[in-house]
Amino acid sequence: MRGHDVISARAVVLDSADAVASHVAAFLLEQSLKTQGVFRVALSGGSTPKKLYTLMAQPGYAAQFPWERVQFFYGDDRFVPRSSPDNNGGMVQDILFSRVPVPSGNIFPMPDSGDPDDAAAAYEAALKRVYGADHLEQGKPLFDVVLLGLGENGHTASLFPRQPVLKEKTRWVASCVPDDAPHTRLTLTYPAIASSRHVLFLVTGASKEAVLKRVRAGDPAEPASHIRSEGEIVWVMDRDAAGRHPEGE
Ligand code: 6PG
Repeated sequence: MRGHDVISARAVVLDSADAVASHVAAFLLEQSLKTQGVFRVALSGGSTPKKLYTLMAQPGYAAQFPWERVQFFYGDDRFVPRSSPDNNGGMVQDILFSRVPVPSGNIFPMPDSGDPDDAAAAYEAALKRVYGADHLEQGKPLFDVVLLGLGENGHTASLFPRQPVLKEKTRWVASCVPDDAPHTRLTLTYPAIASSRHVLFLVTGASKEAVLKRVRAGDPAEPASHIRSEGEIVWVMDRDAAGRHPEGE
């Protein structure tokens, strides 16, 4: 498999979390400028990508980025009001979108109220509208780039251990109630994430070393191990997460 799965994925090890953010920011700029027309990105949540979003909001970077033709989606979100500090859409709006000239019509936050399953269906309908079809086609990826994090329990997006969403092969978006994390969530499913040109896992910090090793070995017990892309998967990690501790420490 040419980098389509977590085992054959390319690995980039950088000195620090800041270097990871810079690397991914440069990648998004390079890829979006190389692409003609609409460029679709699914953003990840949690704490790791905050450095990236902060970098993208810097005037020097923001002035180069083609905001007018990039559409921003979410890999997952906590099903809490956007005003909650736990909502990924609200976090990205505060750190990034409120500071750059991205057209509001290019931002697709996940719904934050009502019935979770109805909200998942509504988000899936929005994805199908931009995709232009009701079924994902090989060779016509839904996303140009999907950003993902990695939880210490092996989850990614909101694909959590022991949850029915791990078996979802048809729907593009589903709700998930983790048994080991707060909040009901909405999440892209494995097939939706696989419909991508690039999947980038951003993994930093020594606390992720053990789970990263298991997932990169393809441990089937870890939900992140089952991520595929019809394009390429890249591990973008810092030395701490990669277990490359400075010599002599
Ligand atoms: C979320 C994320 C989730 C995250 C991991 C890692 O909504 O929390 O999408 O999948 O990427 O939990 O989170 P940290 O970056 O905070 O370690």
